[in-house]
Amino acid sequence: MMEISCSLICTLLFFFLLSILFFMKQNNRRIKNNHPQLPPGSMGWPYLGETLQLYSQNPNLFFSSKIKRYGEVFKTHILGCPCVMLASPEAARFVLVTHAHLFKPTFPKSKERMIGPSALFFHQGDYHLKIRKLVQVALSPDPLRAMLPDVELIVRSVLNMWDGQVETTYHAMKRLTFDVAILIILGRHVDDHYTKELKHNYCIVDRGYNSFAINFPGTLYHKAIQARKRLNCILSEIMEERRQKGEARSSDLLGYLMDGTKEENGCNLSDQQIADNVIGLLFAAQDTTASVLTWILKYLHDYPQVLALVKAEQMEIYKANECGMKPLTWGQTRSMTVTNRVISESLRMASIISFTFREAVADVEYKGYLIPKGWKVMPLFRNMHHNPEFFKDPEKFDPSRFKAAPKPNTFMPFGNGVHACPGNELARIEILVLIHHLVTNYRFEVIGSSNEVEYSPFPVPKQGLPIKLWRISTESSYSSNKIVDDLTCQLGSNLN
Ligand code: HEM
Repeated sequence: MMEISCSLICTLLFFFLLSILFFMKQNNRRIKNNHPQLPPGSMGWPYLGETLQLYSQNPNLFFSSKIKRYGEVFKTHILGCPCVMLASPEAARFVLVTHAHLFKPTFPKSKERMIGPSALFFHQGDYHLKIRKLVQVALSPDPLRAMLPDVELIVRSVLNMWDGQVETTYHAMKRLTFDVAILIILGRHVDDHYTKELKHNYCIVDRGYNSFAINFPGTLYHKAIQARKRLNCILSEIMEERRQKGEARSSDLLGYLMDGTKEENGCNLSDQQIADNVIGLLFAAQDTTASVLTWILKYLHDYPQVLALVKAEQMEIYKANECGMKPLTWGQTRSMTVTNRVISESLRMASIISFTFREAVADVEYKGYLIPKGWKVMPLFRNMHHNPEFFKDPEKFDPSRFKAAPKPNTFMPFGNGVHACPGNELARIEILVLIHHLVTNYRFEVIGSSNEVEYSPFPVPKQGLPIKLWRISTESSYSSNKIVDDLTCQLGSNLN
């Protein structure tokens, strides 16, 4: 009897405990469903968070170790801000495309002040949309096609100046991308002294942009702020001159923005807003394209079989153009299949924009996780581009992988959604034209080849990749280069 009651008590106790466990689990799930939880992750030290862990090593190691530990959505705390980092294509699409209205662009105030607070990428909503439309028209295929011969002249001039010398590739590419950006912004008839003044002052802004934001006489930041004010004056003068000559309506970016000042276009931009957007565009166009170009030269150097394939494709076009005597046509730039694959693979491998920042404007729920209002959100492009699930053998440079289109939303070198890069087509044109003239007319050699990476601020090969370049001295390339020399002399002052 005693034994029976003892086992009955044990059984009852067992069922009692089981029901408590069941109840707790249900309750937990209910809490989770009603109140989404923060993503897994760690917030590090008070205020400092995990900033030191991120910046004391290659940032990619930080991201990949977190992803391994917590999965593709995790929380952390960087530079005084709580953040949610996202490494899955669906999560990036959620933030950048489908729920973009819940996430605003966010930049440090010192950077906003330097570029100009009215530049489109600081904004969302109506203002952003209006400016973006104007920028997109200026960078659409028709104006780009019209500018192709001028881009070609700029490329030829940069290579011509490099001929026979050792140059830092990144510096040479920055000159190229600056000149192309000025061409797109101010057109081909801009007065030479304006170009020189813009270049001089923009270089000072560029140097101060990544310095400590101490606005005290003598500091790089202070000099940059002063130069930024001078840039406003130069741009105002150009605009005033155009108005007086009745030239506001024109096919360059400044013309589109000035047309946008007209009430009937619904934009009504002030000169200050136009200047901020011009400087913003220069800023977005120059270093990005120059870094990618630098990586492409490195990859072409490091992978001679890829260079041979690119050269074969480009030589066909070169011969069709009577050994470079005729200019490249728009159709030819569309037909450079192999070269385009090399560009895509370089964009993937180098992933120069490793991630971007947004800020949640409200509490947002994503897949049961809470992203609290005010938290930063960072889609990690580089991690997606180097994920073996989407790109087999991701550390291998293999342009042929782009024979097949990547899986949707896994390849975003130009971002995605409302803030995706409107300059992607221009960047591709610049790169294609540079590659065409480089491989058909020159040989080049990297000096002190290395696999180290520097950040300036985008990743570039060590020391900006010093390269020595020689013109291939064949009869035909001699005669075509003679023409370039003559043209460069005529246009020289405008392009330098
Ligand atoms: C290979 C070169 C380039 C790369 C890799 C690149 C990449 C990007 C990326 C990833 C974004 C989106 C950033 C975000 O969502 O936060 C972006 C935005 C932007 N890019 Fe580019 N870009 C390049 C060249 C250019 C060029 C040549 C121009 C102009 C002529 C340009 C103008 C812009 C502008 C204005 C935005 C902001 C758009 C907006 O907020 O609506 N970019 N770029």
